[in-house]
Amino acid sequence: MRPEQTAAAHPNIAFIKYWGNRDDALRLPSNGSISMNLSGMETRTSVRFDPELQQDCFTLNGEAQVGAPLQRVSQFLEHVRKLSGSGCFARVSSSNNFPTGAGIASSASAFSALALAASKAAGLDLSQKDLSRLARLGSGSACRSIPDGFAEWLPGEDDGSSYAVSIAPPDYWDLADAIAVISQDHKPVGSSAGHRLAHTSPLNAGRVTEAPERLATCREALLNRDFERFAEVVELDSHYMHAVMRTSTPPLVYWEPATEVLLWQVWQWRKRGHAVCATVDAGPNVHVLALSNELDWLKKALAELPGVKNVLIGKPAEGARLVG
Ligand code: DP6
Repeated sequence: MRPEQTAAAHPNIAFIKYWGNRDDALRLPSNGSISMNLSGMETRTSVRFDPELQQDCFTLNGEAQVGAPLQRVSQFLEHVRKLSGSGCFARVSSSNNFPTGAGIASSASAFSALALAASKAAGLDLSQKDLSRLARLGSGSACRSIPDGFAEWLPGEDDGSSYAVSIAPPDYWDLADAIAVISQDHKPVGSSAGHRLAHTSPLNAGRVTEAPERLATCREALLNRDFERFAEVVELDSHYMHAVMRTSTPPLVYWEPATEVLLWQVWQWRKRGHAVCATVDAGPNVHVLALSNELDWLKKALAELPGVKNVLIGKPAEGARLVG
């Protein structure tokens, strides 16, 4: 057992998406995925195991949490207790420097920061691979926020072989994510529940079968800094995931009318020669991926579109780290 440990981690945006599991409990994904950590947005989490505590305590942005959020953190800490052989409960205090309701998925930054802080506080010194595996148990996408920069989650065969690795450092490509926030509401169906519906769509088998091809194209385009090729595969993959969501039983429709307008607009800009493309997660907000030299006009143009509440910018960032 060590004194309190604090870790920081960024959320990430997936270029090739994780949607659906082969094993929900272990979060073994149906397909691999590729993402980029996002600078500017960050979760900071402090953990201290305390023999005096009767149960885990979890504060988020200064507010004590009960019910489902506390239960999810507590369930995660069980994995850490098992690994370290300790039975102690913990005090967890977490804060996001981006508004929790800003429409940015915080589970990736949350569980990657928690995995690092909790494992260190429990006296463990996990390798990056084992840290990524641990973070995966809290939230699938969190395993990709452990390594630096651009990460690929290798789906693996079992718990031991499903984790993320860095495929390029943050300064490898001058890419940015301009997030057009359309809604700040909590999504009606969260990702965990959504993953369980993927197999009900008749389109899912095709999406999963062809995933290795899209992963190879995306990896290659990224490593060659080939924006045109990158843009095509990123948009195809996002459309594939939303087609599966819409054709699930019950159907999941995350888009709002403004989402569609933005996607059309981004497509027009690219046709005119701009290095921009778009991807959408489990919500209505549009992530516009662009080369950094497009950002000045892009930020203004996005902010002026109907339905856009604000625009956040994320650039490639480092993985989870301990902070003082
Ligand atoms: C659409 O990682 O949030 O953002 O493992 O249940 O926490 P849980 O799901 P989560 O799913 C992310 C879904 C996605 C695509 C992606 O980030 O790859």
